[in-house]
Amino acid sequence: MTQKKRKIIVTGASSGIGLAVCEHLLTDGHEVIGLSRRGEQAGPHHPNFHPESINLANLDALPHYLDDLKNKHPDTNGIICGAGSGAFGSLEEFSYSQIRELIELNFTSQAYITRAFLPNIKKQGFGNLVYIGSEAALRGGSHGAIYSASKFALRGFTQALRQECAKNGIRITLINPGMVQTPFFNDLDFSPGPESDNFILAEDVADTVLLALNSRRGTVMDEINLSPQKRVIQKNGLDKSGS
Ligand SMILES: NC(=O)c1ccc[n+]([C@@H]2O[C@H](COP(=O)([O-])OP(=O)(O)OC[C@H]3O[C@@H](n4cnc5c(N)ncnc54)[C@H](OP(=O)(O)O)[C@@H]3O)[C@@H](O)[C@H]2O)c1
Repeated sequence: MTQKKRKIIVTGASSGIGLAVCEHLLTDGHEVIGLSRRGEQAGPHHPNFHPESINLANLDALPHYLDDLKNKHPDTNGIICGAGSGAFGSLEEFSYSQIRELIELNFTSQAYITRAFLPNIKKQGFGNLVYIGSEAALRGGSHGAIYSASKFALRGFTQALRQECAKNGIRITLINPGMVQTPFFNDLDFSPGPESDNFILAEDVADTVLLALNSRRGTVMDEINLSPQKRVIQKNGLDKSGS
């Protein structure tokens, strides 16, 4: 049976997990609207890819922007929220504005995007909303107070929304990866170990997104945890821990 082609918004389309998701969706013949600050400067080159440049952390401008985007693409029936960033350190190392920015990007902007598109998706009677959480959505770790808080918020949001949207045929999925080898770590003082079983690939997460999208209607993959076989963290070139 051929699968109906869909129009899907992907945030974080310029890099890492979001970029891999875009590439998988385009290969499957879907139309993709890709959101990131870099817009058309990054992301796939494909006739079915429509890049949009937007700073999702600018919450004041977001409702107006999302209204326009919704009017441009009223037939959108999927959202994959892959935009986000990480900042780690003890709480007192964060300025007040850094706390606000991380929560707003990693959680509030995703609630705004969902809020904007949900009425149209409900009208279609079918859709998928997929969010990239983290292992930090499952347990708080040292130096991750604000990052974990943003991901716990996202997890609570998806659990509640799942109940709310079931009657409209909308499936909500939260994917919680451990360390994925992406530019996420470029500005951090740690990264996954170098061996292939020390990290997940962005393509592994994209495969999981597609699994959730392509599962039989009537079934929902509520929450999926993915982790590298071995947890090895490199700090300044040194192995900090291993298991
Ligand atoms: N990598 C990991 O180990 C890992 C593990 C668990 C969960 N995650 C989660 O996975 C998600 C994606 O991370 P990744 O590993 O793919 O990181 P990444 O390669 O750094 O990609 C982050 C994406 O988010 C976009 N983005 C960041 N700030 C933005 C802003 N203010 N406005 C619009 N777009 C913005 C970036 O685009 P621009 O820079 O062009 O704006 C980029 O496309 C994040 O939510 C992260 O918390 C990652």
